[in-house]
Order: sequence, then C-alpha cells, then structure tokens
Amino acid sequence: MNVTSADFLTSAPSLAKCPPPEKPEIAFAGRSNVGKSSLINCLLNRKGLVRTSSTPGRTQLLNFFVINDAMNFVDLPGYGFARAPRPVREQWQPMVHGYLRGRSTLKAVVWLLDVRREPSKDDLQFLDFLEDAEIQTIPVVTKVDKVSRNELGRRLDKISKVTGLPVDVFIAFSVLNKQGVKEVWDLIMQVLEEE
Ligand code: GTP
Ligand code: MG
Repeated sequence: MNVTSADFLTSAPSLAKCPPPEKPEIAFAGRSNVGKSSLINCLLNRKGLVRTSSTPGRTQLLNFFVINDAMNFVDLPGYGFARAPRPVREQWQPMVHGYLRGRSTLKAVVWLLDVRREPSKDDLQFLDFLEDAEIQTIPVVTKVDKVSRNELGRRLDKISKVTGLPVDVFIAFSVLNKQGVKEVWDLIMQVLEEE
C-alpha cells in the first residue's frame, strides 16, 4: 500500500461527536499497551503520527486519521487497564461500544493480542462483542519479535485455542522488522473492496 498522505483528523469522546460518516473506516482495538498506536504508525510508515507510550492507557479518546484522503483509521482507547482512573474506565464501554455499534462507515476492526499473554477475560469479552455486533474482525498478534520462532508457534496455538478462532486467521506482527504489514494491508484493502 502506497501511503501518500496520513493526517490526524480529530479526537472524539463519543459516537455523537465523531466526524461526519463519509469515508470507509477501519478501527484498531485491543487491551491497553498491546501496540495499537505503534501498529498504526507502522502501517502508515509514519513514526510519530500516533502517540505511543510505555505507560498503558494513554489513548483515551476515539482518534481519527485520514489516509490518502480515501479512508479513516480510528485508534480506539485500550481496555483492561486496571489502574486507569475510575471515570476513564467507566467511560470506555459506552464510548467504544457506542462507536462500534453505531458507526455506519465502520468496515472492520483490527483486533490486537499480545503474543506473550494468554487472552484475558477482557479480550474474550471484546471478541464476543465483535461477534455479537457482526463486525468484521482482522485478528493480529503483536510484538512477535519478543519470542523465538518455536515459541511463536506455541503461543499462536494457545491463542487460537482460547479464542476459538482458527490459528491461520492470526497475522503475526512486529513493528521492529515490519513483519505482517503487507498481510494487514491486504486484508484491509480486501474489506474495502467488498463494497
Ligand atoms: P494504549 O494507547 O495505552 O492503549 O496502548 P497501545 O495499544 O496504543 O500501545 P503502544 O502502541 O503505545 O505500545 C505500547 C508499548 O509496546 C510501547 O512501548 C511500544 O514501543 C511497544 N511495542 C509496540 N509494538 C511493538 C512490537 O511489535 N515489538 C516490540 N518489541 N515492542 C512493541
Ligand atoms: Mg495507543
């Protein structure tokens, strides 16, 4: 994918405050610190466009980016960050679920899991939500540079078993060596062409 332009559009605290639904949209979701913002920067080949942080819970609003004037990417706030202030945690579900259920231009969610962690209760609840809302899901396993090749196979099997999704639907991803960038883009383009 040739990214000719990628610009921050706006942040929104709710579905009602989102920009007008004009362009097809791809949202990125997963637990806090799983690597959502890093993955978006990597797909766009823009280092600092989306703010990343080693402190979980930095992304607290729906953040919109316009790509090639043709589609939006939406960086969603992460779930499962126990230490987030209570108002932030209580706001998460209406904000994110409201957006995901109500956004007419949403085409798919790229759903991220950390290769080193067994999917949590929050992960499985979120997957249930996506299935219930009938939202197309692109599952990605992040930070695969942190495990050996053998370990990666074992982790993918485990993640597949716990989520109930076939092992071959998961894209192994790393921002360090850009593994998985083409695969994620191919699926995004496929979804957008399904119109
Ligand atoms: P929140 O916005 O807090 O929900 O987090 P996020 O999911 O956007 O995660 P972010 O992209 O900020 O990354 C969290 C941390 O993981 C940062 O320190 C990143 O540098 C690191 N990280 C992300 N992707 C990778 C990867 O592929 N490999 C390695 N080694 N580190 C990564
Ligand atoms: Mg983030």
